[in-house]
Amino acid sequence: MLAWRIPKVHYRVPCKFFIAICAFRGVEVIMTKTKSDVKSIKKTWENNWFIYKFAFKISPIYVIMNIIFSVVQGTMMFVEHILLIKLILDCIQYKRPFIYAVYYIGAVFVLMALWILVYKSYDAFYKRKAQEKLFKEMNFRIYRKAMEIDISCYDNPEYYNDFVWAMSEASNRIDGVIRTVGWLTWQITTIFCSGLFVVTTNLTGLIFVAVSFTTSYYCNKKINKLSYERDVELRPIQRKRDYINRVFYLNDFAKEIRLSDIKNKLYNDYSDSNEDIKKVIKAKSRKITLLSFLNDYFFNTFILNGLYIVYIIYMTSIGAISSGDMAALFLSSRKLNSGLGGLTHVLPRFGQNSMYIDKLRKFLDYDIKIKSKVDAIQVPRETGTIDIKNVSFAYSENQPFILKDINITIKPNEKIAIVGQNGAGKTTLINLILRLYDVSGGQIKYNGFDIKDYDLKSYRQNFASAFQDYQIFAATIAQNIIMDNVEPDVQKIADAVKKGDFAEKLRCLKNGFETVLTREFDDNGIDLSGGETQKVALSRVFYKDSGIVILDEPSSALDPISEAHLNQSIIEVAKDKTVIFISHRLSTTRMADRIYFIDNGVIAEQGNHEQLMELNGKYAYMFNLQAEKYKDGQVAEAIG
Ligand SMILES: Nc1ncnc2c1ncn2[C@@H]1O[C@H](COP(=O)(O)OP(=O)(O)OP(=O)(O)O)[C@@H](O)[C@H]1O
Ligand SMILES: [Mg+2]
Repeated sequence: MLAWRIPKVHYRVPCKFFIAICAFRGVEVIMTKTKSDVKSIKKTWENNWFIYKFAFKISPIYVIMNIIFSVVQGTMMFVEHILLIKLILDCIQYKRPFIYAVYYIGAVFVLMALWILVYKSYDAFYKRKAQEKLFKEMNFRIYRKAMEIDISCYDNPEYYNDFVWAMSEASNRIDGVIRTVGWLTWQITTIFCSGLFVVTTNLTGLIFVAVSFTTSYYCNKKINKLSYERDVELRPIQRKRDYINRVFYLNDFAKEIRLSDIKNKLYNDYSDSNEDIKKVIKAKSRKITLLSFLNDYFFNTFILNGLYIVYIIYMTSIGAISSGDMAALFLSSRKLNSGLGGLTHVLPRFGQNSMYIDKLRKFLDYDIKIKSKVDAIQVPRETGTIDIKNVSFAYSENQPFILKDINITIKPNEKIAIVGQNGAGKTTLINLILRLYDVSGGQIKYNGFDIKDYDLKSYRQNFASAFQDYQIFAATIAQNIIMDNVEPDVQKIADAVKKGDFAEKLRCLKNGFETVLTREFDDNGIDLSGGETQKVALSRVFYKDSGIVILDEPSSALDPISEAHLNQSIIEVAKDKTVIFISHRLSTTRMADRIYFIDNGVIAEQGNHEQLMELNGKYAYMFNLQAEKYKDGQVAEAIG
């Protein structure tokens, strides 16, 4: 038996030598690490720190408590699962009175009860509130950015994907970082307590630990990278599937999908997306499964639970350690194993968080192109002249020019009509005037200054506009008209709805302008007809005190009588306002001081109604065609 006993110094020397080689190899590996690896570690740190700093600023108590609770949790588990067992075994081994063991057990269980009570109270009363506060702050930050980013970002699918990602992942990632730090702290506490026990009892165990930890860490890193790549590939396909879901549940599409066979295309698209998703999952699954097996079985279970236990049994059999040490080492090595196993799962999570946070930061850090200059000037109170000079525009560099060499001067209080066929570029011109996009060539001036020189908010404040694709919000009629959350000015709203031809409908509503629009969130809400909705959008324009009114297809959903009322309102209300309106109904354009006929991005004809009729060109042709239709439909009086 003695021949088996190896003096401690004998096995410690080769062990130290082995550790030195590992350390040397480790340094070599680190030295040869590419710059991009270092960069990616830096980025991971920066991204996680970005969220952690944010959370600490908003809710420092939550962040600190998260750490404290994790330390206590790790320590409590060590005390309950290892220390208590060791103390009881010692009692038996050293023949201490039985009551000692009862005291130990009692003390640990009182501590456990206190701990669970405190933790559960914190969880129920504080943690959720703190989390909601963090989510709210982050979402408001995202909303503010979403409101400011260039509209052109919506046209860029790559950016739009990041945008959608930022919106949907922000809350998860805040929670992710805080939880990961909590887990890390817990694992470190577990490793520290059980590691200290192993080191003070038998140092060699650290070699098993080091090998298992390093291999498992890199394996998990690879698994996370593959999962992330899979998510990136899945995102656009899922977005397409989300769109199909929306089509089936949104009210907007309910009629069309019932009355047509478009559902067949949607079913088809859904099946295609499903196939694509299956392909993406299949492509990555084989590697992920293999790596997960290696990680969970070989690098953790086999090395630490298998080889290490064989080793300590061997050490016991040769008398190097006692049986008591063996029991305690067995338990603490399992703890260390779970702690390190946890660590190999937790550390790469910082990398995974980082990849998502990177997109969030990219979105938040996006450099807005259409913004006010530092020395921006305020728009004067008096309405000024809009001067569109040699303007050309393409939605992006590799797309064709939609507007070419446009020259229009709009003096204060003039009524300007812009007409032309679908896709001619009319709405695009309005987008440029409102500075939703910047011109590609030429210049738009307001009151003698380039519109880029003005403070953007004050410049846009100058306009009251109703878009072709106006939107109604799930809010009261008053809020939909004021477009704010302020106390309604009853008289002003009454005036606006009268001019918008919505007063009659409003009188029939029990709750008047406090009626909620759409029934999505309110059973007492109402759904308006297309024309009524347009009248609410027009009332908005009449409510706003601004010098310039822009109406893109204001009468597209109106019946001829309502259209006549609208024309009357525009003439009355906009006497002392500049009005720019786009209309396909040429009956509306007759009252304009000047009409611009846009054809394929250029001004083909301009003049007042009489001049253009006399010219007998495209405008006259369009007008006569519509006049014929009105006569056929016996509503010729609507044309006036
Ligand atoms: N965001 C966009 N990105 C790229 N192209 C666009 C975008 N918006 C519009 N277009 C293109 O610009 C052209 C002009 O569109 P615009 O909306 O200005 O036409 P319009 O004259 O208002 O037509 P309509 O009478 O149908 O409203 C169209 O060919 C359209 O496809
Ligand atoms: Mg349009």
